[in-house]
Amino acid sequence: MSLLSALSNRYAIKQFSDKKVDEEKIKSITEAARLAPSAFGLQPYRLIVITDRELLSKLAGAAFNQKQLPTCSHLFVFAAETSITEGTVDAYFARTYEQTDNEPGSLNGYADYIKGWVSSQPAESLAESAKHQAFISLGLLIGEASLQGVDSCPMTGFNPAGFDEILGLAEKGLTATVICAVGYREEGEATPQKVRYASEDFVINGNKLA
Ligand SMILES: Cc1cc2nc3c(=O)[nH]c(=O)nc-3n(C[C@H](O)[C@H](O)[C@H](O)COP(=O)(O)O)c2cc1C
Repeated sequence: MSLLSALSNRYAIKQFSDKKVDEEKIKSITEAARLAPSAFGLQPYRLIVITDRELLSKLAGAAFNQKQLPTCSHLFVFAAETSITEGTVDAYFARTYEQTDNEPGSLNGYADYIKGWVSSQPAESLAESAKHQAFISLGLLIGEASLQGVDSCPMTGFNPAGFDEILGLAEKGLTATVICAVGYREEGEATPQKVRYASEDFVINGNKLA
């Protein structure tokens, strides 16, 4: 199936059936999120996976009791780093030397350049940037879920401070940014009609703007 037809068939599920998503599909979905591009490759976010029913019910209380939480197969919580620091950059280069042919230390000049950028930015804009980047990962997760025939519902209708508290995220330097419930729609459920800008209203010819 192409991504386009998978996306045409997906919609934001409000309540899932009892059917659970198998772990092989969950692996593909989390891999799509992991492979998302990020600024300088720093990946200033993590993906938390939750299936525990008791924990899901507790989290629902911090998400306006939206039905997706207690009924989903798996809940993904995208947690952004609360700050991007020199430590974030060092951790990235440690991964780089481990995963590539570059000799340890050979990229110190580039590391210093990124650290210079990090130290030139206000802390709040780095925290915002980490959250924005988590959304790119979310988009790819939704796309891969749709290709796997798995239904999903992205959600910002929750209280991040409540999630941070329940999941103990603050002490890990993380904050809940956006969540996505996955599972399966009720059998026979009709796909609602899509409401989107017409492509000619959405895609703007920039050549004519200047
Ligand atoms: C960032 C974001 C936050 C959303 N938050 C919620 C939410 O809290 N609860 C909900 O039921 N749907 C939520 N949605 C789903 C949207 O309402 C839905 O995607 C939109 O109406 C388009 O419909 P479709 O996805 O079914 O095509 C959210 C979607 C996005 C992208």
